[in-house]
Amino acid sequence: MTDNRPVGVFDSGIGGLTVLREIWKTVPEESTIYFGDNSRSPYGTKSRSTIIRYSLQNMKFLESKDVKMIVVACNTASAYAYEELKARSGVPVVEVVTPGADVACRATKNGRIGIIATKGTISTGVYKKAVEDRAKELGMENIEIFQQACPLFVSLAEEGWWDKEVTRLTAEEYLKPLKEAGVDTLVMACTHYPLLSKVIQEVMGDNVVLVNTGEATAKVVKELLDKEGTASEGNSSPVREFYTSDEPELFEQVATPFLGEGLPSGTKHFTTDRYEVTI
Ligand code: DGL
Repeated sequence: MTDNRPVGVFDSGIGGLTVLREIWKTVPEESTIYFGDNSRSPYGTKSRSTIIRYSLQNMKFLESKDVKMIVVACNTASAYAYEELKARSGVPVVEVVTPGADVACRATKNGRIGIIATKGTISTGVYKKAVEDRAKELGMENIEIFQQACPLFVSLAEEGWWDKEVTRLTAEEYLKPLKEAGVDTLVMACTHYPLLSKVIQEVMGDNVVLVNTGEATAKVVKELLDKEGTASEGNSSPVREFYTSDEPELFEQVATPFLGEGLPSGTKHFTTDRYEVTI
């Protein structure tokens, strides 16, 4: 069985493009529709009820596009809203938390795992729990988790300051407690952080494994498409559409470095706040 409908992906803005590019790499034959909620970004500093409402509205938009799966490419939205989205969606929903937790548990040798994310994501405790649950499932004992919110990383990534002195100094400050704790695995639990991975790796040292949740999530997308029998087989010309709730030109300018290859063009404007949702 094949299903050529697109995979829907949403994020608070452009960060989710780091997840989208991993999806493109892993399942290149899939069509995708990406929605970036740039006009209401960032999500990482907002309240639980706001993030759930925004996420439900974004889901409604993707459903109106007849997607076969929804990927919540935003860590903050995954941490706060996944359960609500899953309960109300007519199609499978993939979040970015558990795939990263799985990779981290498999990668660690000393059982000391660091998690860096937005303030919102850290405050939910969802990542910590996901790592603890996965470790339990894998029969691992003595897992210790160290969390650190790194809010300034989002601005530094959006500014394109991936390898600047200010970024290094900021990283040294944020990551100091994790280095001191001796973590050997660090989950980059925010869409923007993979862009800063060179600096993060240098500050943490070569022996620390950095987990890119986008990569781990793309693998889950592939597994689920295969399991559900909904992969787009033999689709040689996948369609790749982009929507933003802010100015399309602005989206395309800032998006380019996040996406790497395959620059977005023809991005359309759409605001999801027109959707009524009750929470
Ligand atoms: N996309 C968000 C995340 O992964 C980061 C940016 C924001 O705060 O909206 O948590």
